[in-house]
Amino acid sequence: MPFVIYIVVVECTTIEIDIGQRREKPLRLGTISMIGGITAQRMYLTTSFIMSKIIGLKINGHEAGAALIIDGKIVFAMEEEKLRGVKAVWLQDVFPEKTLDLIKQKFDVDLHTCDHIAVGGVYTLEVVTDCYGRKRNLIPKEYLTSEIKQKIRSFSHHRCHAMGAYFTSGMGGKVISLSHDGAGIRSRGKIYLCEDGETNLIHSQWIATTSSLAYLWGIATKFFGWVHLKDEGKVVGLAAHGKINPLIYHYLSQCLYYENMDFKAAGWQSKFEHICIKLRKDRWFDEAEKRADFAATLQKFIEDLMLKLLFQLHQEYPDYRKLSLAGGLFANVKLNQFINDLDYFDEIYIHPAMSDAGLALGAAICKATELEEIKKPLKIEHIYWGENFSKPQWDEEIRRHPNLASENFDIARVASLIDSGYIVGLFIGQTEYGPRALGNRSILVRPTDAETHQKLNARLERTETMPFAPSVLSEHADEIFKCQKSKYTSEFMTICCDTKDEWIDRIPAVVHRVDKTSRPHIVKKHANPLYYDIIDEYRKISGFPVLLNTSLNAHGDPINNYPHQATKLLLDGCLDYLVTETNIYSRKGDDKP
Ligand SMILES: [Fe+2]
Repeated sequence: MPFVIYIVVVECTTIEIDIGQRREKPLRLGTISMIGGITAQRMYLTTSFIMSKIIGLKINGHEAGAALIIDGKIVFAMEEEKLRGVKAVWLQDVFPEKTLDLIKQKFDVDLHTCDHIAVGGVYTLEVVTDCYGRKRNLIPKEYLTSEIKQKIRSFSHHRCHAMGAYFTSGMGGKVISLSHDGAGIRSRGKIYLCEDGETNLIHSQWIATTSSLAYLWGIATKFFGWVHLKDEGKVVGLAAHGKINPLIYHYLSQCLYYENMDFKAAGWQSKFEHICIKLRKDRWFDEAEKRADFAATLQKFIEDLMLKLLFQLHQEYPDYRKLSLAGGLFANVKLNQFINDLDYFDEIYIHPAMSDAGLALGAAICKATELEEIKKPLKIEHIYWGENFSKPQWDEEIRRHPNLASENFDIARVASLIDSGYIVGLFIGQTEYGPRALGNRSILVRPTDAETHQKLNARLERTETMPFAPSVLSEHADEIFKCQKSKYTSEFMTICCDTKDEWIDRIPAVVHRVDKTSRPHIVKKHANPLYYDIIDEYRKISGFPVLLNTSLNAHGDPINNYPHQATKLLLDGCLDYLVTETNIYSRKGDDKP
């Protein structure tokens, strides 16, 4: 007698069902009825089966944002700062309304219609926000319905960091996932042992008993006269110009020491701040040489203490030769290079949005792993998850500016403009997630001029101390940079590496003039075909498979998201040309090649 299988199809998408295996989740939209014995090990059915839609949120402190995972696939992550046009450091405790609006617009999912809401970095939806100790709801009242409340699950700050890193690392086998930053809610860092999707917390740097390397870095940034939580990278850039000063090193070691996987405050927490106040009187933050020496010594101290932690981990877990990292400390691209150069690890990976901007996605990932909808580390192919704009939207924007000239997009013309030394803004596709512009909201310049650093800083009114970074075609990365190890993380521009001797003088605009390092963005064709082709076209006429790439934004702004921001850059003279997928714009009356 033949088997009889009744299948009731409710809606249609494709799923795979293992017969005879224990189902972890109920079929919610599909119903299956079977009569008779089944010998087949596997059946492929056409029916509807949606695992879940998870919205991740970061809603307290700075760097608000939201993320969306559908059926175990990361489909969206974005920071609120880009949609508001205001750097996150100035957006404290904002609810990511604009990011949620964009999710609704792109995916027709909101807090009412999603299945789960994962909140990163808080244990309660209330937080003390003023000097009177008054509390307010982190989620606006209109969203705090009982229906929404029951969908909310909070995950700890550093769990979100560490899981966000591990589950986007693509790393199989044994991996250590490590987070560290200024402070989470109850912890300053966490260490997990991970293996093929199983994760085991082995240590938490308890906030009441530890201090932080990132804290020292942040305090120093303020004393240098820069903005804490925004300009820390400038301290790193300055460090390469200085030498180690024994007195400053002594002072630093009076503030923080390493002990059994913890960084501990030697004395009171704000001791470093008090020392800096004294050092300021001796002009350590005024005179160029002293500033550089201070930065160099701080960088060395951070690396030395991190080395102690990694050495202990290596001693105790020698089989764990892969390392995934997140937390604000790992925005320090020179520290990342230092870690990568250690023999302890075969590969390291830094989450693209390593700071708290990554917590929304980290929280969504925590929930997806809890539901077993993400079971193993994913390899993310790109991070172009933000907003995109159509040709009609661009036409509308350009109509507002009669003094802008327009010509049709032509890839050879774009490459030629770059080769001629023009500053070209590139605005294509969807905005990047994280702090790096990776071709979709970028400013491109040929890498061959030593004076480009000063020229770009002047045109963009920036005060960058780090060299501008290069985008390099993936097939040519090894020719130019010593980046054989940890290449995947270089797709997100999160690590420095040495430049090969024969290229140092050929691409001076993207190489640190002192330490000869660079921070390459490795461009793969499948990740960004148009950007890849523009670099390749430039290669054909110049012989250089590499371009200078810096973020498309004016001084003090986040990476631009909107056409009107980009046209303003062009009108203000920051750019010579602005390129979209369909057009090349310039100012009328300018001398044109
Ligand atoms: Fe953090």
